[in-house]
Amino acid sequence: MTQNSDPVNVSQETLGRPAPPCTMVIFGAGGDLTKRKLIPALYNLAKGKLLPQEFAIIGVSRENFSSDDFRQRTGQEIREYATSEVEQASWDQFVKRLYYTPGDFKDPELYKKLGDLLVQAEKEQNTHGNCLFYLATSPTFFPIVVKQLGAAKLTNEENGKWKRVVIEKPFGHDLDSAVALNHEIGLVLREDQVYRIDHYLGKETVQNILAFRFANGIFEPVWNRRYVDHVQVTVAEELGVEMRGDYYEHAGALRDMVPNHIFQLITLTAMEPPISFDAQAVHDEQTKILRAVQPLNPEKVLDHAVRGQYGEGEIDGKHVPGYRTEPNVDPASTTETFVALALNIDNWRWAGVPFYLRTGKRLPTRSTEIVIRFRRPPFVLFRKTSVEKIAPNELVINIQPNEGISLSFEAKVPGPIVRLGAVNMDFQYSDYFGTTPSTGYETLLYDCMMGDPTLFQRADMVEASWTIVQPIIDLWKALPPRDFPNYAAGSWGPEQAHELLRREGREWHDCTQKAASLRNAAAGMSVLGTKA
Ligand code: BG6
Repeated sequence: MTQNSDPVNVSQETLGRPAPPCTMVIFGAGGDLTKRKLIPALYNLAKGKLLPQEFAIIGVSRENFSSDDFRQRTGQEIREYATSEVEQASWDQFVKRLYYTPGDFKDPELYKKLGDLLVQAEKEQNTHGNCLFYLATSPTFFPIVVKQLGAAKLTNEENGKWKRVVIEKPFGHDLDSAVALNHEIGLVLREDQVYRIDHYLGKETVQNILAFRFANGIFEPVWNRRYVDHVQVTVAEELGVEMRGDYYEHAGALRDMVPNHIFQLITLTAMEPPISFDAQAVHDEQTKILRAVQPLNPEKVLDHAVRGQYGEGEIDGKHVPGYRTEPNVDPASTTETFVALALNIDNWRWAGVPFYLRTGKRLPTRSTEIVIRFRRPPFVLFRKTSVEKIAPNELVINIQPNEGISLSFEAKVPGPIVRLGAVNMDFQYSDYFGTTPSTGYETLLYDCMMGDPTLFQRADMVEASWTIVQPIIDLWKALPPRDFPNYAAGSWGPEQAHELLRREGREWHDCTQKAASLRNAAAGMSVLGTKA
């Protein structure tokens, strides 16, 4: 996270200096991530002058084609996946830096060829021997590629040249496998050479959580158990499992979203102020939160964790199939596509404040948000208004799709009778900063090249995350679900997810309210509803 104090008028020059010369090697160059995210992100960085002139990309995958074929294919794909118009002149410059070598990731021969190609790229593009290896492969190859890179001495740092390895998610599929993977990686690389990526940290609004909390004086004093009733994190997706049935059948919603994306949101929301924005300081505070999460024993899992799987249903007026009939999914699958949890963070700031989280596929809308629900004030002045009708203050951090922050509070509805209405103060990112189309990978790739690991996960963070979810994995495995599918596509998940909050006198925040509020704002109305 490079820092800049210039506020709203951020010009291109102030965005940052170009990254140092280097070569980026992409393992899995034939895959979806490369064409949809990595190449468009690198192209955006090049357009924004954040890539050095001395830069090369080497694609590696099983498919047998030449560097020229790779350039041609990438040229076709960028037109489909670029986030803004592809300018011929800048693309022509970019494409010259692409190289390719085919091979089997397990075969030491590949790494010899790769070594030669790195030397060639270094000579032709003057990359100074610095190298970023990006593992955009199936996770089974992570330890294999790292081991082979080490054996071929491609990760050796000599004469001031740096070598870093970016590892995609999923990082392990449970605690043991994550520990084993960290161990294998540690045999080859120092921790500061490893960049465990979580694309949620590339989202501007996620990074903004820290700025919002720690660059403003008014929120931190109320950001604790004394004023906060509970916190909700929702990551709702309208999409189903699409063509990823193979992967998803072994992952499920819990592994796919919780120990990574959702825990990033929770740690940034709950952590203590770090002593600086230095990676170590930020990671230390995030890790403390993960360690403070109350362990879930089997009874607690039964009580605090809900799973669901979507059946057929309707979204946006269109009929959609159930999970069990999606491609590459077992017709009797017991994989969960929805999870809701109630967690407690046992520390002085948060003890007694539940953190509810939920995520699912085929929900009614796409929305990622964090809701801080404050305690009600003493309503002595409003004795004649029943308490249920007075909404508690709520701060909603909207991560996507309508990036922004809103605060709801009670106001007097104009008129001779005292009536209260819930109103919203809304900040929309786009109103102040415009929108810069991006893939979400730009900052992350740039940070790797700059050697800033703040937005990446440290080994102990990953293990602490798996430690929290492991008891759920174990219990759910031991007790396969008998009621799947238990929610219709287009609904807000199984009834038990609502029950999880209702039994404590709470409700999930209505994510669809945001869209309604934006519509109202456009129509010049700010009052969401009035409750006499
Ligand atoms: C990925 C998961 O990591 O994140 C997907 O594997 C999920 O299942 C995706 O759809 C969600 O990302 P985003 O950025 O669309 O919220």
